[in-house]
Amino acid sequence: MERIVILDFGAQYNQLIARRVREQGVYSELLPPMSSIERIKGEGLSGVILSGSPDSVYSEKGRRCLPEVFSLGVPVLGICYGMQLMTHMLGGKVEKAPVREYAGVTAHFEPSPLFEGMPDSVVWMSHNDMVTEMPEGFSVISSTAECPIAAMQNEEKRLYAVQFHPEVAHTEYCAQFFKNFTHGVCGCKGGWSPQGLVDEIVGNIKKQVGARRVVAGLSGGVDSSVAAALVSRAIGDRLTCIFVDHGLLRKNEADEVMHFYRENMGLNVIEVDAKEYFLSQLAGVTEPEKKRKIIGESFVRVFEREAKKIGGAELLLQGTIYPDVIESGSGGASVIKSHHNVGGLPEKFGFELLEPLRPFFKDEVRAIGEALGMPPELVWRQPFPGPGLGIRILGDVTEEKLSILRDSDHILRDEIKKAGLERSIWQYFTVFTGMRSVGVMGDSRTYDYAIGVRAVVSTDAMTVEFAEIPHKLLRKISNRIIAEVPHVNRVVYDITDKPPGTIEWE
Ligand code: XMP
Repeated sequence: MERIVILDFGAQYNQLIARRVREQGVYSELLPPMSSIERIKGEGLSGVILSGSPDSVYSEKGRRCLPEVFSLGVPVLGICYGMQLMTHMLGGKVEKAPVREYAGVTAHFEPSPLFEGMPDSVVWMSHNDMVTEMPEGFSVISSTAECPIAAMQNEEKRLYAVQFHPEVAHTEYCAQFFKNFTHGVCGCKGGWSPQGLVDEIVGNIKKQVGARRVVAGLSGGVDSSVAAALVSRAIGDRLTCIFVDHGLLRKNEADEVMHFYRENMGLNVIEVDAKEYFLSQLAGVTEPEKKRKIIGESFVRVFEREAKKIGGAELLLQGTIYPDVIESGSGGASVIKSHHNVGGLPEKFGFELLEPLRPFFKDEVRAIGEALGMPPELVWRQPFPGPGLGIRILGDVTEEKLSILRDSDHILRDEIKKAGLERSIWQYFTVFTGMRSVGVMGDSRTYDYAIGVRAVVSTDAMTVEFAEIPHKLLRKISNRIIAEVPHVNRVVYDITDKPPGTIEWE
């Protein structure tokens, strides 16, 4: 077994480091920074990565690791804060950077096993502090205009560090960098894959569930469907799936999804009409986090009621995946938004959670879905958030706004499909901005709503770029929405990447 441990000092992108390592066919896991040496060593340790962090090494609260981490006999790579911590703990100097860098910048690379096959190219910088004096035995292996020590190494001790973020896709040679570290520096051979884990996941589900019963929240999306397929394989008909129509679904979605499940998946699915319940819970609520929490809680209450009806179930299956966990502020990172199935859960509820996909990224979940032989229409469905259209309406949710949003979204999806762009765009949807502006239609003044169009390309939803949809197609979408959807007189296109934006507007 080959294993790379990432000590998690709490940066937003730490899960992404795990993903980058896994993409090289090497199993990786995040551990708390003060983990014991035995825990870090575990089985088959090939290398250690010290992650980024919002902390400063000079603050008392700055998270630390044990000093023995630097003499484990395996390579250690510090990233951003990890580089500063390595410097600080080994006797170098870290200071506030003269300019706070938060951008893609060109880096110059010196010969190093870490930069094999990487010409001078763009790297993603995001830092306040920087190394000004290296510890003894280190040499500079990269520099940028603002950061003279952008990377350093001590080859004899196999210690390496970079100030930039190689895990972020904005770093041009992101994959090559991780190949160099895992294969070149750590000597790994690769071979680990999420598909290869299906038997192990099914085994773990059997262990957790025992002889009990499970209810699953099925959303029609990839994650919950793959999770249900895995559990069904593990415990058969002791799984009951519940599809909640919360009134925040897209046009015709409930019918389409139920039809699809019945025809293709062989799962035992109950459809619950909870439209009125959700909308009444949400009435008048405008604050995004509050909306998310209400939706999270309402889901659980529906599951509790339904579980009673089928004679009881002790476990609730959820399709939670890694990005849901990290963006809800699990681990050391700060809360960006409470995903309905993680941070949006009520404090008390009558289930034990079953979340077999919690360690995986979306594309890994898709690979598992394919390995299970699930239909491609489902595996490649564009992601749709659990809180549905509830977080695509800025402000309070009403039937009128939902109807405008559904109709505009339907037109967008229709046009993207006709243009054959469904697979190349990661996610595309419309947003009810709540903003009203003046326009002119048929010689008369209008004062109506603006609809936002959001379309992004990504591989994992952690970082995205807005999709470069041809202008001609954008014009067609805009014309159709304004002509066909009452009370819309303006369409705007969202040209924000993530970071600094997020995919959804709330
Ligand atoms: P953001 O907006 O955070 O979204 O960039 C990242 C991905 O997650 C989806 N998303 C959610 N999925 N429950 C979910 O199941 C949620 O509460 C939730 N919020 C966002 C979003 O659609 C995108 O694919």
